[in-house]
Amino acid sequence: MSTAKGLDLTLKVWRQKNQNDKGRMETYQVSDISPDSSFLEMMDILNEQLIEEGKEPVAFDHDCREGICGSCSMFINGRAHGPGKRVTTCQLHMRQFEDGDTIHIEPWRATAFPVIKDLVVDRSSFDRVMAAGGFISVNTSGNTQDANAIPVEKEDADNSFAAATCIGCGACVASCKNASAMLFVSAKVSQFALLPQGQVEAQDRVLNMVHQMDLEGFGNCTNTGACEAECPKGISLENIARMNREYLSAGITSEK
Ligand code: SF4
Ligand code: FES
Repeated sequence: MSTAKGLDLTLKVWRQKNQNDKGRMETYQVSDISPDSSFLEMMDILNEQLIEEGKEPVAFDHDCREGICGSCSMFINGRAHGPGKRVTTCQLHMRQFEDGDTIHIEPWRATAFPVIKDLVVDRSSFDRVMAAGGFISVNTSGNTQDANAIPVEKEDADNSFAAATCIGCGACVASCKNASAMLFVSAKVSQFALLPQGQVEAQDRVLNMVHQMDLEGFGNCTNTGACEAECPKGISLENIARMNREYLSAGITSEK
């Protein structure tokens, strides 16, 4: 068992009562934080401390704490999900920080992700983009064809699976200077576009999802690549190129 002293840290945390509040950074001290604890466990310790002091705890989103659900959205020291590579905030460990560090913690900032409270943002814009076309329609009447009866090229299956690992966390939007959602939307378009099962609705899907993305107020892509660099799942920019091709060909052949 380690007897080494933990980390003493200064936290500058964004506090905002609701969407209408202007919000401000507030400063807190936490001490003796184990380097083995996760970032969210450190936030839990801060909140216990605040509750003991009779203060309002910091609201932040989390669910699985395993890098799966995509809900733990925090901008830490100017980076989406903090200093780790290909990790979500819940997978970030305090050993990434030094004793005496000051850590700035803010919510995702984008017009399409309004702050609900403190570090919690409303990402229902992503849900509406998915509802616009992020699905396939299949016959479930009892005579459904076995999925394995349709051959799929190994490379297509691998690329589709890689795109499907997007957890919808929104780090790509938060990292992009234009608050573009192209990496997210292109991952969701690609996971279907690469498979035969996704072909039936392919044209409508890409047109409808891009239309909804624009309606939600996300910015344009200017090929900076910050989204790919900060994505915890390593979603490739190639998906954006694929979506652009899909969109162009759907626009040419569709009556829309
Ligand atoms: S593309 Fe990456 S950063 Fe964007 S929502 Fe998906 S997992 Fe998160
Ligand atoms: S809490 Fe689910 S990905 Fe972080």
